[in-house]
Amino acid sequence: MKILVTGGAGYIGSHVIRALESAGHKAIALDDMSSGVSLRLGETELVQLDLADSQAASKLEKILVEKAVDGVIHLAARKSVAESVARPEYYYRQNVDSVINLLEAMKNAGLSKLVFSSSAATYGSPDVSRVDEDYICQPINPYGETKLIGEWLISAASKAWKLDAVALRYFNVAGAGFPELADTSVANLIPIALNAISENKPVQVFGTDWPTPDGSCIRDYIHVSDLADAHVAALNYLNQDDRPYQIFNVGTGTGSSVLEVLAAIKIVVGKDFAVELTDRRPGDPAALTADVSRIGKILGWQAKYDLHDICESAYRASLSQ
Ligand code: UFG
Repeated sequence: MKILVTGGAGYIGSHVIRALESAGHKAIALDDMSSGVSLRLGETELVQLDLADSQAASKLEKILVEKAVDGVIHLAARKSVAESVARPEYYYRQNVDSVINLLEAMKNAGLSKLVFSSSAATYGSPDVSRVDEDYICQPINPYGETKLIGEWLISAASKAWKLDAVALRYFNVAGAGFPELADTSVANLIPIALNAISENKPVQVFGTDWPTPDGSCIRDYIHVSDLADAHVAALNYLNQDDRPYQIFNVGTGTGSSVLEVLAAIKIVVGKDFAVELTDRRPGDPAALTADVSRIGKILGWQAKYDLHDICESAYRASLSQ
């Protein structure tokens, strides 16, 4: 199949493109290049477009038709929780308008296969040890709200005009499948910690008084290569007959605390580093771990890599930057 990957020049999008190409698909990247890096794409074609632009629906429709695209994997979005709290209008405009424009373009171009990049941020602060996809979504920040609205739009389109779609709720994505595709944004715990260590600065732990065994927050860290493979599995699902719209958690099913992540990083970097215990970060849920039964049962997908693999690949990639 020929698949358009929006956000294809990004950290996750470029891993998805590699996974698609090694599964025998042809990929085209679409990116506004606000944070994308063209070097991540190698020979893969790049189309530059901001999907939230007021003219984007008609421009995209033309691209889909002219390039004979068979399906879309939609990752392009703003993804900083903190920025979404500070700039809600911008986040709604960027993350919601882009889904509306995409759906309009796909409908008008006669395309019916879509994999949507959603987020565990849609759940908010669930009070269960592992959250499944039927758990009520109560996002606690505008970023999570925009992702939930994206899911609603896609669900409505799947009923209205037979869009075949899957939403993947990503948990905490980290690691690198290839050093040149590394996450260079320094916006999440593992890259922040590696960056601080390389600069001999202390790594901050946001809160050690959470209701968790060691007092620090628990998350489900998923290797970006495993996540990329989940997109290929979702596409295979959509290529079979009569597949209803489905939402899948993409995680490992194992939660790790911030202190456990720092212990794993210490083993990988092979030296001690300073840790500063600070106050809780506002808006953080105490624990967020995926129930991965549904994706295992229906897509036959499960994570291959663990926390050590994630930290090691992130560290190796950071050394080559
Ligand atoms: N943390 C620290 N110190 C830091 C940075 C983070 O202690 O310097 C802690 C946070 O408080 C949190 C954990 O590390 O407990 C992970 O924080 P991240 O900022 O790496 O990730 P989040 O869990 O806040 O959010 C990430 C993505 C979201 C996504 C969510 C899904 O950034 O887009 O995972 O679980 F929605």
